[in-house]
Amino acid sequence: MAADSQVRRIGVLTGGGDCPGLNAVIRGVTKPAQDYGMTVYGILDGFEGFVEGKSTVLRDNDVSGILSRGGTILGSSNKGDPFHWPTEKEGKIDITDRSQNVLKNYKAWELDAVIAIGGDGTMHICKKLSDLGINVIGVPKTIDNDLDATDMTFGHDSAVYIVSMALDRLHTTASSHHRVIVVEVMGRYAGWIALHGGLAGGADVILIPEVPFTWEAVYNKIHKRELMGKRFSLVCVSEGARAVGEEFITKGKDIKRTDPIQLGGIGKVVADNIEDNTGRETRVTVLGHLQRGGSPTPYDRILSTKFGSFAIELASKKRFGYMVALKGNEVVDVKIEDAIQKQKLVKPKNQAVLAARAVGISFGDE
Ligand code: F6P
Repeated sequence: MAADSQVRRIGVLTGGGDCPGLNAVIRGVTKPAQDYGMTVYGILDGFEGFVEGKSTVLRDNDVSGILSRGGTILGSSNKGDPFHWPTEKEGKIDITDRSQNVLKNYKAWELDAVIAIGGDGTMHICKKLSDLGINVIGVPKTIDNDLDATDMTFGHDSAVYIVSMALDRLHTTASSHHRVIVVEVMGRYAGWIALHGGLAGGADVILIPEVPFTWEAVYNKIHKRELMGKRFSLVCVSEGARAVGEEFITKGKDIKRTDPIQLGGIGKVVADNIEDNTGRETRVTVLGHLQRGGSPTPYDRILSTKFGSFAIELASKKRFGYMVALKGNEVVDVKIEDAIQKQKLVKPKNQAVLAARAVGISFGDE
């Protein structure tokens, strides 16, 4: 590998919510960096550490044994946007721009570039930092899989695995008790986790934000199954799903974050309505952060390693302002400014949607 590269010092940070595979990317960046003769600065707690000047040098030994470990050894935060920095004073929250601190630390650490591992929010911050003159390379992470510029973000497969495992388990208890069980999953405004998890776990109904549902269609599906002698049903509902003409169900607002809306609670609403309107005993399970914790699947370990090593290669070539992305089976680079243009949502004719419909899964729309 590694001819003499001008790029000597690389920062790496993990921004936004954590997900399985972050450590595998950090390892994928740090190990090859030694061969390139680069020093890696691990910036702590995402952009928070960049603003506050917290970093630690990462060497080969620091990343040994972390491939399979969930979370991030660097720490993360989804409240540390330097351009939207919250400070609490006398019970009031002030939002200020602290991006100049980032620039100051970038210079103080004598970094040549920063590899920022994160989702949509992180990529938006990267674009603004790049406008300030900071060399950035993005690596797309999120269990939600909602970045349009990449066919897949790492973390998604691990979340889907958890959902499908949960559905397998809930299947046996739902069928034993002749109950309906509703499973609420994450994903924000994109239905990928519910779609893929529901398909893998054999849900009978999948409700996603992209397909507004009617209550009647959901009740009908449960009745129809009963007529076929199937006295239980599994409903996999995305936190961003909503009935036609109804609002998102939210559990709160956090103005310290760039997007303050916290989705959550639709599972209980769906379960209550099903019980009241079908007479069938219904339970709800909210999977929550189980979907983000723990060890990455083999798919995510491979993708994360490919992303990390590709990112450091881009850095060695001084290809700044780009995000690594998966297109088909190939890891490529796309301009960060193009990558943040569009959210990737489930299209009605997506093959997974069509396959789900073909095997009798209802999306609550017919
Ligand atoms: O974006 C990842 C995600 O897990 C979403 O699916 C979810 O809505 C959100 O983050 C939860 O955020 P928090 O960890 O702040 O509750």
